[in-house]
Amino acid sequence: MAPRTCLTVVLAAGEGTRMKSDLPKVLHAAAGRTLVGHAIGAARGAGTDRLAVVVGPGREDVVAEVRKHAPEAQIFVQEDRRGTAHAVLQARAALEQPADDLLILFADTPLIEPETLARMREALAEGASVAVLGFHPENAEGYGRLIVENGLLTAIREDRDASADEKKIGFCNAGLMALAGKDALELLDGVGNANAKREFYLTDVVGLARAAGWKTVALEADEAEVQGVNTRAQLAAIEAVVQKKLRAAAMEGGVTLVAPETVFLSADTKFGRDILVEPHVFFGPGVTVEDGVTIRAYCHFEGAHIGKDVTIGPFARLRPGALLGAHTRIGNFVEIKNAVLENDVKVNHLAYVGDAHVGADANIGAGAITCNYDGARKHHTEIGAGAFVGVNSALVAPVTIGDGAYIGTGSVITKDVPADALAVARARQMVKEGWAAQRRKTHPKKDKS
Ligand code: UD1
Ligand code: CA
Repeated sequence: MAPRTCLTVVLAAGEGTRMKSDLPKVLHAAAGRTLVGHAIGAARGAGTDRLAVVVGPGREDVVAEVRKHAPEAQIFVQEDRRGTAHAVLQARAALEQPADDLLILFADTPLIEPETLARMREALAEGASVAVLGFHPENAEGYGRLIVENGLLTAIREDRDASADEKKIGFCNAGLMALAGKDALELLDGVGNANAKREFYLTDVVGLARAAGWKTVALEADEAEVQGVNTRAQLAAIEAVVQKKLRAAAMEGGVTLVAPETVFLSADTKFGRDILVEPHVFFGPGVTVEDGVTIRAYCHFEGAHIGKDVTIGPFARLRPGALLGAHTRIGNFVEIKNAVLENDVKVNHLAYVGDAHVGADANIGAGAITCNYDGARKHHTEIGAGAFVGVNSALVAPVTIGDGAYIGTGSVITKDVPADALAVARARQMVKEGWAAQRRKTHPKKDKS
C-alpha cells in the first residue's frame, strides 16, 4: 500500500497583543528559532508532503520567515480574523487538492512532537474522520472541553459556550487537529458562526462529522507538549522545555555538558562527539562544533564553525562568520567575527580578529586588533601562514601580512608586510641617562608633615 500523503496547514495569523510587542507573536523565538519556524519543523517531522501557512494581512515579515524555513510552502492571507475554521479555509486552494491526511497546527503551540502528530495520522488511517488532541491542564479555564462518550469524541465546547456541568470537564482541546483529507473541505464549509463570539470555530467539525455518521476521536498529549504562547512568561516556559530537550539530545550524541542547566543551545546547534562544554556557554543560531572540541566556561557563539579539536575560552566570543580550523586555540577575552582561521592558529588572549583570513599556524599576540572599520566601511585583513603578530599590534585594514612575517610588539601596521619580513611600526625607544635623578632634585617632593 502506498504511504498516506499529508497536507499541513499552519495557522500563523495571531497578533499576540498580550506579548506587548511590535513583533507578531509567531516571530518571537525559542532556542533561537521563531515559533512559526518550530511549527514548520513539527510539520516536517510529521511527514508533511505539502505545507500551507495562513498569515495575517500585511505581514511581509512573517511571510519572509516562512519562506526561510519552507520556500515551497503555499502562503495564504486571512484578511479578517473570523475564527480558526475561517483561517483554515483561507488555504482553500490547497484543500481542494486533498491529501490523505490534513494536519492543522497553530504556530503559537510550537512544542508538538512528531510522534504525537504521527499518532493523530494513525487515527485517520484507522478510519477516523477527525482526530483531536486533548490534554489535562492544571487549570482548564479558557480551553475548549472535549466531550467523550464510550471512547468516542462527541463534541468540543468552547469555554464561553459551555454549561456549568461541561466546565467541570478536565479533558481539554489542545487546538491542533487532524482531518481525513477527503472529508475536510466539506466539514470546514459546514461550520457556522452561531456562538458567543460569532466566530467560525474549527472545533465545530466534530459535531458535523458526528452528524454525518463519521468517526471522531480524541488522543491525549502531555501538557508540556501543547503549551501555547500568549505571554512572555509562557514564551520563557517554552524556552525551558526546548532547552531541556536540546541538552538531552546533545548529551545523547556524545557531548559532555558539565552543568547542562547553564548551557543554552539553539534548535540548529550541531555537535560532533567527544566535545566538552564547561558551564555557562551560550550557543546562538548557526553554530557547528566538530569532534574533540573543548569549550571552556563563559563563551558566547553565533553563526560560527568550530573545527576539530579546537580549544576555546574561557570568555571567548564568536560572531557570525567565524570559522575556526582544526586545532585552533582561542583564549580568554578574544572576539572573532567574519574571519577564517586556518588550522593550528593561536589567538590566546585579549584580541579582536574581524573581516580577516588567518593562515595556518599563525600566532596572534595578546591585545592584537584588526582595525577593520574606518567609520564608514569594513576592510579585510590578510594574515599569512605562520605569521607572528606581536602583542598590542593594530593591523589597519585593508592590509596584508605575508606568510611567516613578524610584527613587532605595539606596532600600528598600515602598509603591507612581505613574507618573512619584520615590521616594526612604533616610536623608537629613547633613553636619557640620569634624567630621573636630575628631575627629583629640581622637583623635590613636598614635605607631608
Ligand atoms: C482554541 C480552541 C480551543 C482550545 C484552544 C487551545 C477553537 C475554536 N478553539 O481556542 O478549543 O482549547 O485553542 O489553546 O479552535 N487563529 C487564526 N485566525 C482566526 C482565529 C485564530 O489564525 O481567525 C489562530 C490563532 O492565531 C491561534 C489559533 O488559531 O494560533 C488559535 O486561536 P485562538 O483564538 O488562540 O483560539 P483559542 O480561543 O485559544
Ligand atoms: Ca490560544
